[in-house]
Amino acid sequence: MQHTAKTLLILSLLLVANACSSPQATSQPFASSGIDPAVMAKWSRSCALCHVDGVADAPRVGDPTEWRRRLAKGEDAVLRNVIEGVNAMPPLGYCMACERDDFRAMIAFMAGAN
Ligand code: HEC
Repeated sequence: MQHTAKTLLILSLLLVANACSSPQATSQPFASSGIDPAVMAKWSRSCALCHVDGVADAPRVGDPTEWRRRLAKGEDAVLRNVIEGVNAMPPLGYCMACERDDFRAMIAFMAGAN
């Protein structure tokens, strides 16, 4: 009888441990958003400096109204501003290792499109 109780206790502990570990598997930031983790890492090291808090009036990440207004001038014009810089936005956004496609993914992410 005592043996059965012990087995039940171990089994229920295992169940609890399993229940706790499953959310961790999906807790990777933005894992479901579709942005490549390597691009996300570059974004965190450069763009995030200004685009999280809106430093010097940088459009904030996840401010769809502001991003829609800016993206209305067309992809080429926006990309040119990122690559050459505009006002307080530094050329390449301080990301020397970023490719054009990285910028496109970062902009889509900040605008809430992916
Ligand atoms: C030093 C601060 C700073 C950093 C770092 C920075 N930005 Fe910016 N960004 C700004 C500011 C300020 C503006 C607003 C410029 C303006 O319109 O006057 C801006 C504007 C933009 C715009 C809108 C341009 C437009 O045409 O309206 C895009 C897109 C953008 N940034 C992308 C990026 C990306 C991608 C990175 C990282 C690779 C980055 N920024 C890094 C400050 C920064």
